[in-house]
Amino acid sequence: MHITPGNSVLDAGCGPGIDAFALAEIVTSTGRVTDIDHDREMLDQANRQAREMAMDACLHFQQADVCSLPFPDDHFHSCRSERLFMHLHHPEQALQEITRVTKAGGRVVIVDTDWASLSIDNPIPETERIFSQYRIDKIINNGYSGRSLHRLFRESRFLDIDIEVFPLFTTDVNLFYALSVQEIVENQALADNVISEQQLTDWRKHMQQAAAAETFYSSIDIVMVSGTVA
Ligand SMILES: C[S@@+](CC[C@H](N)C(=O)[O-])C[C@H]1O[C@@H](n2cnc3c(N)ncnc32)[C@H](O)[C@@H]1O
Repeated sequence: MHITPGNSVLDAGCGPGIDAFALAEIVTSTGRVTDIDHDREMLDQANRQAREMAMDACLHFQQADVCSLPFPDDHFHSCRSERLFMHLHHPEQALQEITRVTKAGGRVVIVDTDWASLSIDNPIPETERIFSQYRIDKIINNGYSGRSLHRLFRESRFLDIDIEVFPLFTTDVNLFYALSVQEIVENQALADNVISEQQLTDWRKHMQQAAAAETFYSSIDIVMVSGTVA
């Protein structure tokens, strides 16, 4: 983000505000960290944490939609979002808003998941492919968000565009199920007749066997694209 003490920064789609505290340490009490999320409960959680850490003076949590930000043009030195764009029906509108509120010369950093890169070791890869495609088509609003970020930045007014890709893996089947909303994917794919009862039973049996034998493996790419507002 190229930020220094005294800067004013925005974290869009902040969730419970985990990254707000790290940002506050960089901009210090002379700067300002504004976090927005459209979910009131997330903001309440973030506010409670800020009070407990006695950091509520420099952190500002505000309810807002990223596609309609309640800030004037050229307001922040830098803006970021992490794992927000995958939830959006109109990511290009969100990037336009984020760019509008960032000062010229300021850095915008967007981090998001490329769900099409999800890889799960199992003996029936055909079923894995069905679930992965179903997740992208029906469960996640913008499943290709990570891979499309570079195009969005190129089509907008950015200079000095950088790309970094972070491969993540887990061998913990429960963590995989939680992070990839796999149970929802499986149940809904069954209800939609995209997968048969037998296919699902076989799949779950293999997942349980992998968990018991501690052989489970899954990986995914997280894409970070950043650019300077012209
Ligand atoms: C996966 S969480 C990521 C939270 C945090 N950035 C992190 O990386 O830990 C996505 C967050 O985006 C928020 N969100 C989704 N759509 C939004 C929108 N249109 N405007 C603002 N926030 C939104 C959700 O409420 C949720 O808290």
